[in-house]
Amino acid sequence: MTEQDFILKAYHTNVETGSVKWESPSNIALVKYWGKKKHQIPENPSISFTLSNCKTVTEITYTRKKTKEFSFDIYFEGEKNEAFKPKIQTFFERIEIYMPFLKDYHFKIETSNTFPHSSGIASSASGMSAIALCLMSIEEKLKDNVTSSAVERSGDNTYFNQKASFLARLGSGSACRSIEGELVVWGENESVAASSDLYGVKFEGDVHSNFKNYQDTILLVDKGEKQVSSTVGHQLMYGHPFAKERFSQAHDNLAKLKTILASGDLNEFVKIVESEALTLHAMMMTSMPYFILMKPNTLEIINKIWAYRLKTDSKVCFTLDAGANVHVLYPETETETVLQFIKNELANYCQNAHYICDQIGHGANQL
Ligand code: PMV
Repeated sequence: MTEQDFILKAYHTNVETGSVKWESPSNIALVKYWGKKKHQIPENPSISFTLSNCKTVTEITYTRKKTKEFSFDIYFEGEKNEAFKPKIQTFFERIEIYMPFLKDYHFKIETSNTFPHSSGIASSASGMSAIALCLMSIEEKLKDNVTSSAVERSGDNTYFNQKASFLARLGSGSACRSIEGELVVWGENESVAASSDLYGVKFEGDVHSNFKNYQDTILLVDKGEKQVSSTVGHQLMYGHPFAKERFSQAHDNLAKLKTILASGDLNEFVKIVESEALTLHAMMMTSMPYFILMKPNTLEIINKIWAYRLKTDSKVCFTLDAGANVHVLYPETETETVLQFIKNELANYCQNAHYICDQIGHGANQL
């Protein structure tokens, strides 16, 4: 697939109004995306677990209009929200070439998250993927009975998912990994044949039963606004002294992880996942200007996890996204013991002892 394949060429102009609704999950990267080229093209490949409980639910009502500019209102958790507008405006501008009907309609976008607002959990992945999916459903309705190219009419939902992921990427890079589950790869690399820089693809390699229903408990260490946004962080990878090495390491780690996912070797899994998390933050600390998103309690938790692994034969490990919160990953068989450990030893390091239990999921759903 190329960018050209995602341009909608023919569509009906007699659809007056309608509404569509999707729920789309968040995802957590195991091999991290950090650094991008123009048009949200990643500098290195990444792979993520799709989550199950942390989701955004979005309904878009569309009404045909005559004026020739973008027109939309956003309601977040029932309240009209002006703060999200510039991000959506930019998103519409970026994707208009692929969805030429965008200026023909007024869109009422009603959205809410299943996780608490200002929990410090990035909602851009679930939020942008949910909007992209709604827009794809609208595109489907406008395309009904219009003869489209062979790729678009292949009879399965490959095109739908790929274009949804492609559009979500243009909203927020990591959002392209939220359409499907359970593991999604984004970014061209040798180990995953169908991989693309343009969209995420479901990981089709062998996955050992050790990873079935893998658990992710998200420890909310800091619910505040991040001091440095992901956008700025990505930019700081330009001219970063270790960038080249880092990008090539991500390719190696993805290839290694592919083997680990097949063999079920949890000791090796822990090594790659924790190293990726710390490398991401090392890149931040060695950027110019440098910055630190971890908080003292992030490190306390990491040390507790390491101590717990030393004294038990647990395979629990941590990963981090671009923030202070800690994702605690563990096999389903350890759910009871690890949750006890979290309650007894880690919850104290969370703001208001708050954490969210989640697990690997299957991707977005139309409602
Ligand atoms: O999707 P963005 O631009 O917010 O970047 C997020 C990058 C990380 O979450 C830090 C890593 C990843 O691969 O998700």
